[in-house]
Amino acid sequence: MLIDSHCHLLSSEYNNVNEEIKRAISGGVERIIINGIDVKSSIEAVELSKKYNEVYAAVGIGPENVYGITESDIKMIEDISLNEKVVAIGEIGLDYYWTKENKDMQIHILKSMLKIAKKRNLPVIVHNREATADIYNCLKEYNVTGIMHCFSGSLETANEFIKLGFLIGIGGVVTFKNAKKIKDVVKNIPLSVISLETDSPYLTPEPYRGKKNNPDKLGFIVSEIAKLKGITSTDVIRQTGANVRAKFDL
Ligand code: NI
Repeated sequence: MLIDSHCHLLSSEYNNVNEEIKRAISGGVERIIINGIDVKSSIEAVELSKKYNEVYAAVGIGPENVYGITESDIKMIEDISLNEKVVAIGEIGLDYYWTKENKDMQIHILKSMLKIAKKRNLPVIVHNREATADIYNCLKEYNVTGIMHCFSGSLETANEFIKLGFLIGIGGVVTFKNAKKIKDVVKNIPLSVISLETDSPYLTPEPYRGKKNNPDKLGFIVSEIAKLKGITSTDVIRQTGANVRAKFDL
């Protein structure tokens, strides 16, 4: 089953989000997990998931949106996580690339999201940019699993997260010519720990790099993984679909 385990089909990103969802579905994508990044987009992800059978929601507050977050915002995420089409807490995580100055605040919000995941027994979808050690410690402390979204680390780091029970999210970057590091990771980790994602509207795969992304571009990521591992696209779709369905109970 062809599944986009991480995208942002949200009205803040597209002129017509419903058209984008329909385009993804008619392009053969059978399950789509729309990830919120703050309270407003998380509510929208839930609303969209109620409208389309193929769409599921992840709700959460991401590291770029931690300023001004109140306890009632956190409570709101907890409340909407009760909806039956919410399958994960995400996109959450740490991002030290843009700034480390609010590190404590980022960790506080991440931990409050992990608490919700724990309480609701939901997996998490994690954004990590230059914060591997802190992320690893938080995930271990709360004993949660899920997806390391848009994984960009070394094989050694991938193996550490795999040991914690995480899937490694592979997206458009793997199709880029200069992406030797992630291509090597894909070659060396088993297909049983890979999940597919587009991160739409971002990270559009080759040959459409630079254009606005849609989950209907998943096929380019599938072909690249198949090529790297010397297997068929059908194998990639079947196994990664099974991985995500098992993890998120889809
Ligand atoms: Ni994302």
